[in-house]
Amino acid sequence: MKNSEIFFGKDIISLDQLDRKSIEFLFQEVKRIKKTPVKKLLKTLSGKVVGLMFFEPSTRTFSSNSAAVKRLGGQTVEYQNPLETSSVVKGETIEDTTKMMEQYCDAIVMRHPIAGTLRKVAEVSDIPVINAGDGIGEHPTQALLDMFTVFEKHKHLDNIKGLMVGDLLNGRTVHSIIKCLSIFSNNTLYLLSPKQLRLSDKDLEEAKKRKIKLIEIKSFKEIPADCHFWYWTRVQKERFVDKDEYERLKLSFILTKKLVDEKAGKNTLIMHPLPRVGEIELAVDADPRAVYLNIEAKNGMFVRMALLSLILKTR
Ligand code: CP
Repeated sequence: MKNSEIFFGKDIISLDQLDRKSIEFLFQEVKRIKKTPVKKLLKTLSGKVVGLMFFEPSTRTFSSNSAAVKRLGGQTVEYQNPLETSSVVKGETIEDTTKMMEQYCDAIVMRHPIAGTLRKVAEVSDIPVINAGDGIGEHPTQALLDMFTVFEKHKHLDNIKGLMVGDLLNGRTVHSIIKCLSIFSNNTLYLLSPKQLRLSDKDLEEAKKRKIKLIEIKSFKEIPADCHFWYWTRVQKERFVDKDEYERLKLSFILTKKLVDEKAGKNTLIMHPLPRVGEIELAVDADPRAVYLNIEAKNGMFVRMALLSLILKTR
């Protein structure tokens, strides 16, 4: 298959769909877009319309997709809260809603609280569908932007040593990153979470079958030296039935400046998909290794520009 055909017309629902060649090609395209003057990109999606349907709240994924389409000269139809503002309120099914968006748009970017919904949406849709996060399932574009950020800094995605901390059970980004890094060789992820929020046994078993080593650790003391990245995550309040348990667990592992000074390597990227709700001390923000408020977030827009242009453009 020619590189230009890898993404054209495709859905992006899970990292399982991608291989090394497609990710490397996507990252080349991201680098090209980052270097290209803004004005030169404006014809890329001229005449195209992308539907953004977010059944769960979002700052970054919604805004960066919206900005990505506009920076490529396309337009958007946007639903930030379809459960209140679309005919879903009247009982319209997700399938019918999807078929309607298909009449007006060239692609759909959707977030939904129930894992697996995006797969269902992609099955009924005749236009490409991009998963912008489905419950505790996956968040493929976040994983791609995170791994692009690691790749941009370290120049490789093999032989990577990373640390993932927080809500690994419910963190859809975590699930996609594990899949992404398992496509490459000799990668190790150290996992640190409260025991109630460990990666599920199913996910751990599945990872064993993949080309990735997962090592569960119990405390900051066990963080290895010179990780390529640290990836902190929020404990996800919205996934808890027992709100008292959330309160007990939410600040189990706080990233402090002291911890960064003691344990991070000089080239360790400090990452977080955001939002953060207390699990990163503000003093960490000024550390040049902390990229969650700048490079990582901005790469979200560039990765989505690259992906949308490859999925939709005709050149
Ligand atoms: N990283 C991320 O998905 O952020 P939002 O929920 O704000 O989109």
